[in-house]
Amino acid sequence: MTDAPLCRVSDLGDPDALTVTTTDRSGRALGLIVARWQGLLMGFVNRCPHEGVPLTVMRSERLMDRALGGKYLACGKHGARFKIQSGMCTAGPCRDGLTPVALTVRDGQVFLVAWPVDVAPVSPNPAAPEGHPLS
Ligand code: FES
Repeated sequence: MTDAPLCRVSDLGDPDALTVTTTDRSGRALGLIVARWQGLLMGFVNRCPHEGVPLTVMRSERLMDRALGGKYLACGKHGARFKIQSGMCTAGPCRDGLTPVALTVRDGQVFLVAWPVDVAPVSPNPAAPEGHPLS
């Protein structure tokens, strides 16, 4: 991956989550989620374990489920919910949780330490499914 920061710590509220994109050394896009909850920063691969699509595929504006106190990330396709602090699936059609990634902070900026070795890159912007308002 590149050495470019993913975002600034100040880009995130608490609780909050945002999607970011970086690239690996061969230029492939890597879609990630950077989240903050009770002062802790967490990183996850932006891929729902149900069908392998980014959580933001159908409703990019609703990554976090604020109706539940901002404790959960929500997949826009079928509504799976994931604990923001662990990525564990707590509701919806998924059995596995989100894949965590290690982050580090330097000078107020957030960096990806390493992409999980057994996870293929995830396109952060797949085409919207046919029939979707964005297609
Ligand atoms: S693709 Fe995420 S809940 Fe189905």
